[in-house]
Amino acid sequence: MSETARIILDGTEYEFPVIQGSENEKAIDISKLRAQSGYITLDYGFKNTGSTQSAITYLDGENGILRYRGYAIEDLADKASFLEVAYLLIYGELPNEKQLTYFTDSITHHTLLHENMKRFFEAFPAGAHPMGMLSSMISSLSTFYPESQNPNRSVVDIEKTIHRLIAKLPTLAAQAYKHNTGHPTVYPSNDLGYCGNFLKMMFGLPTQDYEVDPVVERAINKLLILHADHEQNCSTATVRVVGSSQANLYSSVSAGIAALWGPLHGGANQAVIEMLEAIKEDGGDLQKWINKAKDKNDSFRLMGFGHRVYKNFDPRAKIIKKAADEVLEQLGIEDPVLDIAKELEQVALNDEYFLARGLYPNVDFYSGIIYRALNIPKDMFTVLFALGRLPGWIAQWKEMVENREPIGRPRQVFTGANHRDFVNLGQRD
Ligand code: ACO
Repeated sequence: MSETARIILDGTEYEFPVIQGSENEKAIDISKLRAQSGYITLDYGFKNTGSTQSAITYLDGENGILRYRGYAIEDLADKASFLEVAYLLIYGELPNEKQLTYFTDSITHHTLLHENMKRFFEAFPAGAHPMGMLSSMISSLSTFYPESQNPNRSVVDIEKTIHRLIAKLPTLAAQAYKHNTGHPTVYPSNDLGYCGNFLKMMFGLPTQDYEVDPVVERAINKLLILHADHEQNCSTATVRVVGSSQANLYSSVSAGIAALWGPLHGGANQAVIEMLEAIKEDGGDLQKWINKAKDKNDSFRLMGFGHRVYKNFDPRAKIIKKAADEVLEQLGIEDPVLDIAKELEQVALNDEYFLARGLYPNVDFYSGIIYRALNIPKDMFTVLFALGRLPGWIAQWKEMVENREPIGRPRQVFTGANHRDFVNLGQRD
C-alpha cells in the first residue's frame, strides 16, 4: 500500500509520496515541496536528509548492521580478498573465478605511474602530509589520461579509469611515504597480491629482498575491506556531488580524499594516536581527559569515539578490535600507548556521559592501534583509509552517473542584509 505524507503550510495541505527502501526504511520525497509551496527544508549537516536512493551499502546504525550489496561485513572481512570486495561494490555481484582473474590481472598491470609524476613528488616539501600529496596526485592523473575528462566517454574508457585508479593509488601512497623518508622508489611487483605489493613498495628497498609478512598482509586486507564503503558519508557524498557536475572520476576521488582528511572523518585515526600519545606525555591521568571531553567549554573531543550513524556499536569496530588483539599477540607487541587505549576504552564505556549519548569506540579508534603496531607512520593512517574507501567512492560515483542524477546543489535560508544602496568610499563611517 503506497503511503503519503501530508504537510500543512499556511493552512494549505500538500501531499508527498513516501519512498520505501528494500529494508523498509522510509523517506518522504519532498523534491516538489518548493515548487508547490515555496518552502524548502533546512537540515544542517544533512543529519536527516537522504540525497539519493542507493543499492550499494546497507547500514542500520541502531542495530549495528553493515552490508555491502547484501553481504554481511563480518563474512566479507573474514572470507574475502579486498579486490573481490572492490569488484562486488563496483559491479554489484561477487566475481566468479574468471571475472576475478581478469580484474586482478588488469589491476596488477596498471600499477606503474608515468615517470613525470616523480617530478611532482620531488617538488613537495620534506614532511608534506601524504594526504595532501595523494589528493593532488590523484587529480593530476586526469591530465595524463585526458579521455577521462570527456563526460560522454565510452564504457571502455570508464572501466580503464576505474582499474587505473585502483591500481595506482597504492603506488602513489607508497611513493608519498618514500618522499618523506627520503628512501628510493620501489616499483610495483606483479607477482605479489594487492596488499603485499603495497607493503613491499612502502617498506622494501630496491637493493634488498622483501618478504611479505602474512600476518601484516592479512591485517591490511581486513582493514581495507572494513573501510571499503559506508554509504553517504562525508567523503562519499563529496565524490557524488563533485561527480554530479560531470567532473572526471580522478578529480571526484581527489575531492573525496580531501574530505576524508579531516579529523572528524578519516583523519580521526591519526588523531586517536596523537591523543593517546598526548595523554601518556601528560602522565596518563585518564579521568582528566575524560572530563575535558565532557566539558562543554572545552573543544576537546575523545577522538575515535562517537559516530553520526552508529549509536549502539560500530560493527566494524568489533571486527577490528579482535583483529587488533590478534595482530598485537602474533607480532608480540607491547606498547604503553596501546595500554592507554585499552584503559581509555574501559573508562569511557562505563561513563554515564558516553553511555547516554551512545558514544562508543568507532573503527578509527582500533585501526590506528593496528597501524601503529604495523609500523605505519601516523600521517599515513588516513592514506590507508583512502586505499580502502576507493572502491566505495568508485561504486557510488558509477551509480550516480548510471542513474543520471542531477547536479548536486543544495538551497539555503538567507539570513544576511536586505537590499541597501551602495555607499561611496569617502562617505563610509
Ligand atoms: N567526545 C566527547 N563528546 C562527544 C564526542 C566525542 N568524541 N562525540 C560526540 N560527542 C557529544 C557531543 O558534544 C554532543 O553532546 P551534547 O548532546 O551534550 O551536545 C553529542 O555527543 C552528540 O554529538 P554530535 O557532534 O551532535 O554528533 P554528530 O553525529 O554530529 O558527530 C562525530 C559525529 C563527528 C563522529 C563525533 O562523534 C566526533 O566528533 N567524534 C570524534 C571524531 C571521530 O572519531 N571521528 C571519526 C568518525 S568515524 C569515521 O569517519 C570513519
